[in-house]
Amino acid sequence: MTQAMTLSERADALEEHMMHELEHIVTKSVLFNLADGYVGTESGPALMAKNPGKTMLMGADPRLPQMPEKPTLVDYFRCRFASTAHLLQSATHALKAGHNEKVITACLLHDIAVVSFIRCDHGYWGAQMIEPYVDEEVSWAVRAHQALRFFPDESVGYAYPEMYVRYFGPDYRPEPYIVAEYERARNHRHYMTARLITVNDIYSFDPNAKVNLDDFVDIIGRNFRQPKEGLGLDSSPSAHMWRTMLWPTRFL
Ligand SMILES: [Fe+2]
Ligand SMILES: [Fe+2]
Repeated sequence: MTQAMTLSERADALEEHMMHELEHIVTKSVLFNLADGYVGTESGPALMAKNPGKTMLMGADPRLPQMPEKPTLVDYFRCRFASTAHLLQSATHALKAGHNEKVITACLLHDIAVVSFIRCDHGYWGAQMIEPYVDEEVSWAVRAHQALRFFPDESVGYAYPEMYVRYFGPDYRPEPYIVAEYERARNHRHYMTARLITVNDIYSFDPNAKVNLDDFVDIIGRNFRQPKEGLGLDSSPSAHMWRTMLWPTRFL
């Protein structure tokens, strides 16, 4: 019987088993199910019926690394980001090239959405997440890099990434909203900050490069306004996004 189960059936069974081991009912948002090709979410009554005697999880998910009571951006780097090497390598590249701290910060945070939240439109999500806490130049650049990375700029030696040809195929063309965003960004006063993200974006990941978050803690301290309540526990317009990373499986 067990042998007849497919890999995904076994993963589902394991997940089901793990859910029962937990004290509270962990819920998957629709978005998590969409990523599995399924439009839906389990209703409250259905979850209660499947888990007699339990209540819904309304806080930290015990399966995830525990976050401090007042989390900082560095805590998210350490406990919630799936990987940090790409961000640290890009920021290191910008640092070594002698760019200013706004550019370095923008490079350090440019793909923050990819590593912590969602890939689709990651420049927009990432910019929104950091907007209340950084200089407008930094968040603008993070947003604009979404579009700029598809367009060359010979003045700084940026060509369309070879990797994108492999990833998306030679015939891929960005959607009209990306083209329009690029056209607008080209004449913006912060254009070069966003362009420098793409220049310092390390597409070819070097597994031997030595990078360390500790090298950037001071730059983060000077360029990211850490809320005293804890990042996500404050009342900024994007605090809820950080809270969602803090407690991704809360029922409500
Ligand atoms: Fe990116
Ligand atoms: Fe990147």
